[in-house]
Formats: sequence, C-alpha cells, structure tokens
Amino acid sequence: TKKIGLIFAMQEEQEGLDEYILNSRKSYYGQREFIEGNLWGTPIVAVLSGIGKVAAAITSTQLIERFDVSELILTGVAGGADVQIQRGDVVIADQLLQHDMNASPLFPKFEIPMRNKSRFHAEANLYEVLEKAAHDFTSSSKTTRVHRGLIASGDQFINDATILAQLKLEIPDLLAVEMEGAAIAQVCHDFGIPFAVVRTISDSANDNALHDFKEFIEKIAAPYSIGILKSYFELI
Ligand code: ADE
Repeated sequence: TKKIGLIFAMQEEQEGLDEYILNSRKSYYGQREFIEGNLWGTPIVAVLSGIGKVAAAITSTQLIERFDVSELILTGVAGGADVQIQRGDVVIADQLLQHDMNASPLFPKFEIPMRNKSRFHAEANLYEVLEKAAHDFTSSSKTTRVHRGLIASGDQFINDATILAQLKLEIPDLLAVEMEGAAIAQVCHDFGIPFAVVRTISDSANDNALHDFKEFIEKIAAPYSIGILKSYFELI
C-alpha cells in the first residue's frame, strides 16, 4: 500500500505543512522528527532532513528502512543553472548527479564508484504527475514556467557565476543545483524505491545568490512546496 515519504531540507521549506496532516504521530530517531499521518487523503511520513548529501542520505534510508515508505518525494528550493530558468520557476528532476563526486583517476569524474553511473533516474510515473501538479499550481502566474531535466547536488552553496559557468561547461544540460536530491537518488536506487525531486528556483547560483535565496526562503519557499504537493495529492 502507498505510503509517501516527504523530505524537506530546511524548516522554511515546510513551514505550515503540519497543520494539514491529520491523525499525526510524532517520533524521533537520529536527531530527526518524523511526522506520520494522512495528508489530503494519502498516508505520509514527513521529515526535516537538514542540509547536505549526508543528512539527506541518512533521512531517506530511515524513511525506507524504519518507516517502510513506498515512494519518496523531495521538495524545496534550488539555484537556477540555465539561462532559460528564472527565479520562481519550478524544476522537476528526471535525472540527478552529484557534482562534487570525483574519484578520478579511479573512476570517471562524477561517476558513483561501483554503480557505474553518474546519473540516477527519477521515477517517470511520479515526476510526470508532479509536473502536472506544478502546472496546476503555477497556472495562475503568467511568468512562472515548469522545466524538467537534470538537477545536480553537492555539499556546496553555489554563489559564484564563475563556479556555475565551470559546472555548465562540464554538464551542459544542467538545469538547477541544490544539496540533497542526488543523495536521495542514490539511496533510492540502492533500495529500489521510486522517488522524485521538485525544486522551486530561489536564486541563480550567481553572485546575488545569497541575497536572493534568503529573500525567497523566508516567505515564498513553503507556499510553493506545499502548494505543489497539494496539487499532487489531488491528482493521485
Ligand atoms: N539551493 C538553493 N540555491 C542554491 C544554490 N545557489 N546552491 C546550492 N543549493 C541551493
């Protein structure tokens, strides 16, 4: 039976979600609060992972092993990494890559050792519906666009146009950067659990990134995350 794990990296990305969770039960493992309950008709477990690949990997492993989730969805913000992508746009991952993985010359740059791949695929059955949900949620805005493509994760907040340009040179199809998605992708790959990543663009990973990020995270990030999730739960 369906039980969806919902991961958020930061409190600001899930602010207000709790009040929609019915019959909620809280439990605590590994410094994290897990909230089980029913969200718009679907059994869920929501958790704040904390920032970064290790925090995200621990959290997704807990959701799979301890809470037995059937699928996992990560929502939050990301830095835009393409000229087509503007602040407030939504990016849905179809593939994810860890941009700070580099075991060369043992393995090609970006490749996950012993997995023979640098890119993990999100679950098409999930991201196609999430993409529709994002369209439904953003349909009232004439300027917001929804994109689908490659998201890269690394333990680095990118706020430098030169660093971003270097990444784009190596990964031309990159759409957005964040700090958790590709770690969750690796865990879900190893356990055979379907997952999806939905990100709203808070900044352009350039020299204005910190200012743009702070402003966005303060009051726009959570309504986007929650709004897209609500549209999603209405579709499933
Ligand atoms: N999340 C949101 N913006 C980001 C950025 N510029 N770098 C890394 N993660 C982010």
